Amino acid sequence: MLVDRYGRVATDLRVSLTDRCNLRCTYCMPEEGLAWLPKQDVLTDDEVVRLVRIAVERLGVREVRFTGGEPLLRRGLVDIVAACAELEPRPELSLTTNAVGLARTASALAAAGLDRVNGSLDTLRADRFEALTHRRRLDDVLAGLAAAREAGLEPVKINAVLMRGVNDDEAPELLAWALEHGYELRFIEQMPLDAQHGWDRATMVTAEEILASLQSVFDLTPVGDVERGSAPAEAWLVGGGPARVGVIASVTRPFCGSCDRTRLTAEGQVRNCLFARDESDLRGAMRSGADDAELARRWEVAMAVKAAGHGIDDPGFLQPSRPMSAIGG
Ligand code: GTP
Ligand code: 5AD
Ligand code: SF4
Repeated sequence: MLVDRYGRVATDLRVSLTDRCNLRCTYCMPEEGLAWLPKQDVLTDDEVVRLVRIAVERLGVREVRFTGGEPLLRRGLVDIVAACAELEPRPELSLTTNAVGLARTASALAAAGLDRVNGSLDTLRADRFEALTHRRRLDDVLAGLAAAREAGLEPVKINAVLMRGVNDDEAPELLAWALEHGYELRFIEQMPLDAQHGWDRATMVTAEEILASLQSVFDLTPVGDVERGSAPAEAWLVGGGPARVGVIASVTRPFCGSCDRTRLTAEGQVRNCLFARDESDLRGAMRSGADDAELARRWEVAMAVKAAGHGIDDPGFLQPSRPMSAIGG
């Protein structure tokens, strides 16, 4: 079991399959991209599946989410999903993607056993999409999200980050569009995880502002904490339900106290938190011949020392050296 000093138990594993991405969202990485990991440093498909198997069989992990960078850039993704779907007890399998390549792969992923997809979309306007991502791929994203829904990878959730002066006036429009298409939209407060270290609390669009903007158009009713469990998103019913909208307020309303996550980077390092300063090198141990029991033990040790919270508000807060794209969102 992956339990920490505060009694939190990690049952949700997020696996980053690559640090590469085909978009360049300004809140994540610079236009020129980053120095990608060399191939030999990245876990092989077999190594990924072995670690997921250990997490499921020995450590009590019940949900596995594949992330990146952009996980659809990982050639072996469909095979990795298929192998993880064979595990006992079968974990819930999900994917967090920018949806650019999803139109091509959604049905193969569903056939391999993927249960659901979360996609990212910050704007519906082509000019803004290009300004935000430095790529002209809005139509591909829209087609990818539709393909996920058609393949039954539901509920399809959509993550939107609002940037002041860029797309912060678009919240009601995004919600109207999501309701029309049957997607569950969540707005995310921007976190200090960008490679450029340009995050500024003073300009971050807060949950409070997002809600005020939505409430100017929609009737919202809080869903309440019982149903929320350990989910990062707080939910509201729209127009009395059943449609809903979420807000992930990592900065102004942190949910670290109920965190149930453990993370594996593309090069096989366990991170006990998005904002962790230390990692545990399972790839090194694995390649030096550690057996499953030893790898499980190391994973438990890494999780036991998880910090109480992200500490963004602490006076001495330092952004982690890894950007979001090399951790997995
Ligand atoms: P589901 O609700 O189960 O679909 O998962 P999710 O919301 O955790 O998944 P997703 O990958 O879509 O994450 C959405 C956003 O939540 C991420 O982009 C992060 O901004 C935020 N998030 C996810 N995990 C964490 C976490 O462990 N800590 C914090 N602070 N934020 C997180
Ligand atoms: N703060 C908050 N969310 C972020 N994402 C990427 N970078 C950040 C950040 N600095 C989001 C993306 C995507 C998810 C994986 O993480 O928009 O939806
Ligand atoms: Fe969990 Fe760390 Fe995220 Fe807080 S910041 S919710 S502790 S992973």
